[in-house]
Amino acid sequence: MKPLELSSIAEVWRSALTILEDSLRPYGSDLQIWFPWGKTWRGHDRKGMLPPTDLPHDLGQAKGARFGGRLWTCLPAGQVSWLLCLKPASPPGPDLAGWTPGPRESAPLALLAEFLRLEGLLGLTIKVLEHRASERAGHWDRVRHLAVAVGRQLGLSPAELVDLELTALLHDLGKVALPADILEETRPLTPAERRQVESHSLVGAGMIREIPGLERVADYVQSHHEAPDGSGYPRGLAGADIPLISLIVGAVDAFDAMTHYRPYASERTYKESIQEMIAQTGKYDDRVLWALQDVLRRLGILDTHPMVNPPAADQEARP
Ligand SMILES: [Fe+2]
Repeated sequence: MKPLELSSIAEVWRSALTILEDSLRPYGSDLQIWFPWGKTWRGHDRKGMLPPTDLPHDLGQAKGARFGGRLWTCLPAGQVSWLLCLKPASPPGPDLAGWTPGPRESAPLALLAEFLRLEGLLGLTIKVLEHRASERAGHWDRVRHLAVAVGRQLGLSPAELVDLELTALLHDLGKVALPADILEETRPLTPAERRQVESHSLVGAGMIREIPGLERVADYVQSHHEAPDGSGYPRGLAGADIPLISLIVGAVDAFDAMTHYRPYASERTYKESIQEMIAQTGKYDDRVLWALQDVLRRLGILDTHPMVNPPAADQEARP
């Protein structure tokens, strides 16, 4: 699975690259956009994210420079120092140093700068969760990208897909408020402890609701453990009262736990795990499970076994 190609944010990159590539056509083709990230550079082309790379320091101020058989030019926009690079046109086009971006080119770069900041903050949040809430590395990215793919399969709009992606990333944020000994406990939880763990969906929703513009995401996070038959929590909502985005994240989260963190995880194909979920009538939304099955079929992995890391005294996944 190639993460960013399943991400809804990848579409923002693609549309920005299309606009810039169009404008830069006289100078060259196959545009890449790079930006500094810590000590390395990260980049995108129209196919997706490029591997993080070390680039010569002085390239960051380049104007129409040649490096590695490509033309490079820097472009500050949205408080980010972007670096654009092209395969030179043949015959050679005008000097790239003379190119100036207009509003049509600057607007998508400003939007991308916003997304970079958001990605950075979300990455930080996930690091805190992995560290503090004993979540396993990789879980968040898989849930994020699989949820978006399922949402797209179910016909969600681009705005809904962004809400879905944020919900998938932040659904267990409330776990940071739980005592470490409960999160690390390997014995079955007492009813009181279970209630405490279950509070994470309300606690996380409360944290997110304080952020302007994320009220809907807070509602979706609050309901990510509700079940269509009313057996979920925190409110015991049923059927159409549960937002579809919450149902998607709940099912994909459970599916990832089932296929990666249970003792039998590697013994079952993805299809067998989905069939087990379908058999638990009322616990998960059928539309979501069928869409999930279609996504895995399209990815060509439905009948394969998950790649599971050696278990570290793993037990049944917690809610
Ligand atoms: Fe949860």
